[in-house]
Parts: sequence; C-alpha cells; structure tokens
Amino acid sequence: MKMHYINNKFNYKKNLRIKKVKEFLKITTITIIMSISSSSSAKENDKNTSLNSTTFNSVLEFEKNFLELNKKEDTIIINDNTLNTKETDNQVEEIVEDNRIPVALTFDDGPGKYTDRLLDILEENGIKVTFFVTGTGVEAFGEATKRAYDDGHEIGIHGYSHTSFKKMSIEDIQSEIDTVYGLLTELDIVPTDLVRPPYGSINNEIKENLDYSFILWNVDTLDWKTRDKDAIIEEIYNSIENGSIILMHDIHETTVDAVEEILPELIDTYRFVTVSELFSLNEQELEKHKSYRKVKVLEKVEE
Ligand code: NI
Repeated sequence: MKMHYINNKFNYKKNLRIKKVKEFLKITTITIIMSISSSSSAKENDKNTSLNSTTFNSVLEFEKNFLELNKKEDTIIINDNTLNTKETDNQVEEIVEDNRIPVALTFDDGPGKYTDRLLDILEENGIKVTFFVTGTGVEAFGEATKRAYDDGHEIGIHGYSHTSFKKMSIEDIQSEIDTVYGLLTELDIVPTDLVRPPYGSINNEIKENLDYSFILWNVDTLDWKTRDKDAIIEEIYNSIENGSIILMHDIHETTVDAVEEILPELIDTYRFVTVSELFSLNEQELEKHKSYRKVKVLEKVEE
C-alpha cells in the first residue's frame, strides 16, 4: 500500500489510535504470559497467590483500559479487523505510516537572541526545520547555531551580510557563501548545499554560476512586516498547503510566539520537515543551479 497525503487527517488519527491499541495489547499479553510462566514455576503457596493475583489484576486492568479506549474511539476502530489479524511486519509498518501533510518551516536572518527559545519549542513539538543563517548571525550566536545543528535541524546559507545577490558580483556572492561555510565548519557543522538568497532576489546568471540549490518560498508569513503574533498565525492558516515552504524569521520575538501557539494546533494535520526531507518525501531531487518555491507534490494513492 502506498500512502496518500491529501486531506487525510482522519486516516492519520485513526492509524495512531490503532497503533496505540496494538501497543497496549502487546504489552498486556507479554505481562500476562510472564506472570503465568513465573507463577507455574513458583514453589511457595503465598508466592503463587500473589502472582496469580498479579495475573488477575493484569487481566482486569487490560479489560478496563481496553473498554476505556474503545469508549473514546469511534466505531471504526472497534470494527477494524486489523485488530484481529495476525500481524506481519508489513502490516505493522502500514499502520504506523505517517499520513500527515508534509510542509517545511524555514527561518531566515538568524540566529538571533530568540533562536534558543525557538529551539526549545521545536524540541517540545518534536519537529525539524531549516535555518538559513547569515554569517553575522553565526558569528554572534555560535552556540544557538551549533545547537540547531545538533538538534537535527537543517542548516542552509542566507549570505554573510544579507546583501542582495543581485547587487554583488558572482565572485563576491561566492566569497560570502564561502565565509559562512567556513564559520559553520569551525563549529563542526556540516552545512547543506541549500542557499536562500536575501530578499529572494535571484536571476539566471547567479543560478548558472553558483553550485547550489536555491530555496525560495511559497508562503510568506510577513512576520518581518507585521511583527504581530496573530497576524502571523493567520497568514499561516490562510496559506499552508501540501508541499509548502514557509518563510519566517527567528530574529523576531513575535515569530517565536506564533510558532509556539500554532505548532500544537497544526501538528496532528501537518508533518513539519526540513526542506531536504520535504523534497525526498515527494521523490523530487533538489538540483543545483535551480531555484524552488515549493515542492512538486507527489500525489500518492492507495493501490
Ligand atoms: Ni533575509
């Protein structure tokens, strides 16, 4: 079975519930088997009694929890015959598949003084994003840069001085990028070949002459302009779609506030991944000398 991403919040939730019940059944079964096998080998009567009561309690507990779970779930889970089927490795894999809609959050112009708090929030929500760092940001906030990398986020380059590439010679752009690469390497960070041109400003000459993939965006949260948490949240809600590359800036406190509020609301529906992951999930290669606003979404359908 291949997964499909479109409008399948429901499937994802259902799958998660099935997974939970299955995990529960597995643990309970193991507990019962262990209790029975140790109680039959025990010699003393009192030990036997206590073990038998453990077994009995496990069964009661199991029954109680299972009923409780079923009560909360809709009828689909109760009627789902995968629960009664003997599991093969394949079936288990099928059930834990992540069917949320993949999108990529990207943060430019940092790191800055709010980056560390942002990293806490991302960690709490268990998601990975892409940072397009500036050289000046890395110099001023080396620790946050290193933490972002160590936490598993993707590091791309946003120039050294945030000068528009169109206002520089090819040599100067290359030299800026090299400088940032050098700064990152000093921090034991392996940067990607992803570059986000400042202001999204790029032309064919730049693309042809520089050996990077240029990542633009299709959702601009306008966080740099509004500096308003609710406005940022509204922009995200209005524009987020399958395969989106979302532009934000971790140098603004209101941006971090917005992320903190919105992630728990969106995380059941959207799978937040790095830019590279967004492309690989959609089986699209990120080529050098090209620019991208979003990923070409692969519509996967069940077979
Ligand atoms: Ni920028």
